[in-house]
Formats: sequence, structure tokens, C-alpha cells
Amino acid sequence: MADELLRYRSEFPILERTTYLISNSLGAMPRAVYDAMKGYADTWASRGVRAWEERWWMLPAEVGDEIGALMHAPKGSVSTHQNVTTCQAIVASCFDFSGKRNKIVYTDMNFPSVMYFWEAQRAYGARVHMVKTDDGITVPTERLLDAIDETTLLVPVSHVIFRSAYINDAAAIIEKAHKVGAHVVLDTFQSLGTVPVDVQALNVDFACGGVLKWLCGGPGVGYLYVRPDLGKKLEPKFTGWFAHQNPFGFEVGSIRYSEAPFRFMNGTSHIPALEAAWPGLKIITDVGIPRIREKSKKQTERLIQLADQHGWRVNTPRDPEKRGGTVSIDMPDSQEVCRELLKREILVDWRPKAGVRMSPHFYNTDAELETGIAAVEEILKERAVAAR
Ligand SMILES: Cc1ncc(COP(=O)(O)O)c(C=O)c1O
Repeated sequence: MADELLRYRSEFPILERTTYLISNSLGAMPRAVYDAMKGYADTWASRGVRAWEERWWMLPAEVGDEIGALMHAPKGSVSTHQNVTTCQAIVASCFDFSGKRNKIVYTDMNFPSVMYFWEAQRAYGARVHMVKTDDGITVPTERLLDAIDETTLLVPVSHVIFRSAYINDAAAIIEKAHKVGAHVVLDTFQSLGTVPVDVQALNVDFACGGVLKWLCGGPGVGYLYVRPDLGKKLEPKFTGWFAHQNPFGFEVGSIRYSEAPFRFMNGTSHIPALEAAWPGLKIITDVGIPRIREKSKKQTERLIQLADQHGWRVNTPRDPEKRGGTVSIDMPDSQEVCRELLKREILVDWRPKAGVRMSPHFYNTDAELETGIAAVEEILKERAVAAR
């Protein structure tokens, strides 16, 4: 059967020149970004400061709504920021660690930035508890749930693990957290755009991620969903004039918070990055995440089959229901193999304890998977000959 999603290939110039299997790191740039960037420059050049009123001021909220629609978030519940680390800081600043409820529970499979940030909060009184993986692929759910207790304030966890593409049991984590009065900060960077996310069905407190990977939106835009009931009452201490009820009143003294999503913003918005994010979001919305997911399951399955045929170690769950969009393959000399693949225009990456990460997206052909694997085979053969 013809793959309907391949009709989007022509929207992405880099697909003409490379085998692009790296959407877990940086999604391919949509051709329309050229126009979006030109539009940004034209607006700045021709409208000058009036651009704020005419377009720019509302842009972070509009892009937030566009991202929110992809995860079934109500309008006005998603603010945009520079990155996920900033989103963690905004969430942290809504709480304080001086009381008995000051425990942060996370896992060693979180993205490092999300560990470094929370570890650093010890200086403000946070008690940080790290749950360790046994196999380097999965998170021990029972141990994680046991660690969430009546003293737990926040549980910052990845939805899909960046190293292995393991899908955490977000529903169970959220249920346990809520039972004991804790909040979950779900990092959906490696899920949104390739795995369905429904923040309302999950009843998650916070969700954050960025647009540069699976959403093809480029660097510089992170997003933060805050559940609307929390969005009415939380008061981020990492704040600024964009979060003020009357920003152009330039009032002196403490802030009077506006409604969400501006309530969770702080200083001047990152307009060029927001403009660049539009085209990717439009395409992902048009393709639809269910279709992306269906194809992703098949293509990741195929990559696992091919790796198995060569006897290479696969550091990704075999159960498609537990697997996101990436397959981590630890073939011999995987770091050197990765370098060679890049030289041959096969774009992938390598991570310690993972191996070579291959991440097909809706725009990849099945043939590209075979090309990637055949190149690995060839590189390993060449290395074996050279070593003789
Ligand atoms: C799960 C996850 N969280 C966060 C990040 C990045 O965090 P930040 O946006 O702060 O750079 C990444 C990758 O870059 C990631 O894979």
C-alpha cells in the first residue's frame, strides 16, 4: 500500500540530500521556514515597534495554543519559553521547599538538564530522591511509585526516555502522585509529535517540552502546560512584566498576576523562534499524530528486526506500546560508526549507554531504514578489514 505520508517529503529540503533519521534530536526544517523568517524580517523592517501590538505580543500565546491543540490542552493553558530547563524553573518557583513537603522524586533516565536543575534545588531545601534504572532501558515503575510519598512535592519525569525511547507509565505515576498530594511535571519533549499525548485524559499537573525535535519547529521554543485549575492560583516567583495584569501600566512594587498563559511568562518573548516554529506545527497538525504513531511503530519495528539480523544490541523496548519513536542500537564501536554515518550523509546521533539512535519520522521512506543499516554493515566490514 502506498505510504500517503510521503507526500510531505517535498516540504523538507534536507530530505533531498541526506538520509535523515535524527528527528529525536532536530526535526527536518520545513521549506516554509524561509518565508516565515522573511516575514519576520519584513514585519520588523516595515512595521517597527508597531509589530508588538499588531502581531508579536500575542504570538507566544498563539503558538502555545497551536502546540496545546496537539496534546488536547484547553486554549490558554500553554505558555512558551526558551527551553525545558526554563519551564522546570518556572514550575519550581511556584512552590517552596521550606515545609515538610519538600521531596522531589525523579529517575536517572530523565534528560540530564532536568536532573541538574532539580539537584541544584537542594540549595533551597529540596530533598531530592533519584530512582535508578536496572537495565538502562526502562524505569522501574513500582520503585518509582513507592518513592512518591506524603512528603513529595513534585515528580519531574520524562514521558518518553531520551536514551531508550521507553514510554513511562505516566498515568500510574500521576495517579500515585495525586493520591499523596504531589504534582507531576511530565517532560513530553520525546513524546509530543510522535506518541499521542492527552494532558486532560492524563490529568497531569504540568507538561513541558520543546518544538525542535518531533515537531519540526527549530530551536528556541519550549512550552509549558499548566492544568487550568492550577493556572488560576499558582504564583511563579520566576516572573516578569509579561505576566503582569497591566504590563503597560509599569506599576511599581510586587506583581499582580495576569491569567494563564501570560501568568507563567516573564520577560520579552523570543519572537524569531516563535515565527520559525509555525510551519512545523502546521504540518504536524495536518499529518495528525495518530498517523505518525502508526507509521513510527512499523518503522521502529523494522529497525529492530534489521538490528537483530546483524546481532546488534538493541537498547529500546521491543513492545511497540512501550516504545517511542527512536531505536537505540549499540553495534560494536558504535560511537565511531556514528561518526562515519554522518560523513556519509546518514544523519543519526550517538549517546552513552544507548548507542546509535535512529529515529524515523513521518517523512522517512522504508528504504531509508535499509540504507542506514546497510551503511552500518559496510562501515563495520571496512573497520574489520582495516584492523587486520
Ligand atoms: C526528554 C528531554 N528533555 C529535555 C531536553 C532538552 O532540554 P532543554 O530544552 O532545556 O535544552 C531533551 C533534549 O534535548 C530531551 O530529550
